[in-house]
Amino acid sequence: MDILSGKKLLLGVCGSIAAYKVAQLARDLTLAGAQVDVVLTAAAERFVGAATFQALTGRAVLSDMWELPEDGVIGHVSLGAQADAIIVAPATAHTIARIAAGMADDLLTTTILAATGPVLIAPAMNPLMYANPATRANVATLRARGLTVLEPEEGRMAEHVSGKGRLPEPARLEGEIRALLGRHSGPLRGQRVVVTAGGTREPIDPVRFVGNRSSGQMGYALAARARDLGAGVTLVSGPTALPAPAAVNVVQVETALQMRDAVQTACEHANMLIMNAAVADFRPAAAAESKIKKRGDGGLILELVPNPDIVAGFAQRRDLFKVGFAAETDDLLANAQGKLERKGLDLIVANDAVASIGRPDIALYLVDHEGITPLPRQPKTEAAAALLDAIVARYTAWRANRTQA
Ligand code: CTP
Repeated sequence: MDILSGKKLLLGVCGSIAAYKVAQLARDLTLAGAQVDVVLTAAAERFVGAATFQALTGRAVLSDMWELPEDGVIGHVSLGAQADAIIVAPATAHTIARIAAGMADDLLTTTILAATGPVLIAPAMNPLMYANPATRANVATLRARGLTVLEPEEGRMAEHVSGKGRLPEPARLEGEIRALLGRHSGPLRGQRVVVTAGGTREPIDPVRFVGNRSSGQMGYALAARARDLGAGVTLVSGPTALPAPAAVNVVQVETALQMRDAVQTACEHANMLIMNAAVADFRPAAAAESKIKKRGDGGLILELVPNPDIVAGFAQRRDLFKVGFAAETDDLLANAQGKLERKGLDLIVANDAVASIGRPDIALYLVDHEGITPLPRQPKTEAAAALLDAIVARYTAWRANRTQA
């Protein structure tokens, strides 16, 4: 299930031109199943009207501290206490200062003062205002109190100035909210997870490579789900056409050797490695320094040498839960079991390559030392989340066993 489903989110909107981006965010969160209550500051209403948010969230928009809600109970204290998370986006320098000072002079600040759950602040302002020591000190105060304050992005602002002060795009804000909820109460909170994704490219010469068809989709979706469940996630990715998931540390690599080095560094303090990348088994013995030219009608013989097996290199790391993948065309389960043993894995996810290519759905098998568990055949778009949940269930049992031992 989507982590946003059924969550009560309080979205505080301040008076900044970036408020228009948050209308999209309110819609996306609502479509993902969250109940979004929007609180506008007086200045926000000059930029985006309550009717916009009301239509997008299907809920009454709140702004006046003295206005009684439908149930007749003054809501400002309970609003903050009931929310699973409070998000202030865009947060102006003025409202950040008010929160830092502990003021309760409007509905938003009063709600935050009475909040019990996690709070995410997404500042957006003129770069000079953001750089001002007063704002820096207020941001530091909020962070020291445990609030999450995002760094604004660099770029061109509405007033034709450039610098650090832009509100991140709605997709990034949504990812940060998912990460916040996960860190607060997800089953992977406090855990570090490394996911690899995509295929590696092994250079033949400066313009050509040996590669494969991996899109990276499964790995990216696994990384996003691990983030949603509260893990600190590093995604080591070969080249793909996919956008980087928000609130995930993405390390881009090209070759298998680069991927090995990046995975080794990322795994130093990790608890789990999900090795989903399609690593090229071989690479050209030497990449030519200049473009290889055609010579008459003659062919070309490429000498390939084996790449190291990345995941097998962690076989001795007993403190790391290692998950591999096996897409096979023949003897699916026997091959998967062989790889589980040979590579020293805790779990391997097997699928029949022929039966899933070009189909919208996929049947996955979880193979571990206890046996084989089929997951129900399901649409590929849903398979990654279901798979990660199944991995987390195994991981939780594995951890409990280790603590007992
Ligand atoms: N893998 C790895 N390093 C490699 C090759 C594979 O870490 N050099 C990982 C994959 O990411 C996957 C698992 O090992 O999680 C199985 O990959 P697969 O390509 O199926 O296995 P191979 O050992 O390459 O076996 P074969 O090609 O003979 O099927």
